[in-house]
Amino acid sequence: MIRIAPSILAADPLALGNDIERVVKAGCEWVHIDVMDGHFVPNLAYSPATVKAVAGRTGAIADTHLMMDNPEKYIGIFADAGAGVITIHEEAGGDTGAMLDMIRNRGILAGLSLKPATPAERALPYFGKADMILVMTVEPGFGGQKMNEKCIEKIRRLRELGWNGLIEADGGINEANLPALREAGLDVAVMGTAVFRDPDPATLIARISANQ
Ligand code: DX5
Ligand code: ZN
Repeated sequence: MIRIAPSILAADPLALGNDIERVVKAGCEWVHIDVMDGHFVPNLAYSPATVKAVAGRTGAIADTHLMMDNPEKYIGIFADAGAGVITIHEEAGGDTGAMLDMIRNRGILAGLSLKPATPAERALPYFGKADMILVMTVEPGFGGQKMNEKCIEKIRRLRELGWNGLIEADGGINEANLPALREAGLDVAVMGTAVFRDPDPATLIARISANQ
């Protein structure tokens, strides 16, 4: 059963609460929150205040995707804000293993993300330390891009390498390309544009859930 984690990057910034309420009511337990620092990626996005509001007031699990340099400085802050999942990037450098430990020590799920050009093997040293691997299916930074089909192979490769934990994919996912991702071994599909720009997100979510 694939879990859909709607990405609020594509939600209406002036109607964020309503948009989140709609997808939670439609059955989504996770809400994906992108954090961008303008350095690791050329864009800016949500802060701990948003994570706190989502975690505290919507009943959703705040699936927090840190696209930032020096994530170790912010893991504690996002955990305090109520994040249920914190994902860091392998490419951000630093002591990735220690950061995953920091996240797990807060009693929440630790995710490790790989950009499209980063091979699955780079996650191998962290198989014992992560709960989830987030396979980026576009270059991180912006919503609304087309999925890079080559990344589907990386999901399959992670399973071949023996990864038994959760696999999440993020970027350009829609109803049409979801079956191939599921077949490769996906657990969590982040969907921004496809969900929030759909005229009827609840029906879309119900249809995807029914077709699994
Ligand atoms: C991209 C972000 C994604 C983005 C996905 O860097 O990490 O979470 O919101 O948006 P869509 O589904 O529109 O590609
Ligand atoms: Zn994301």
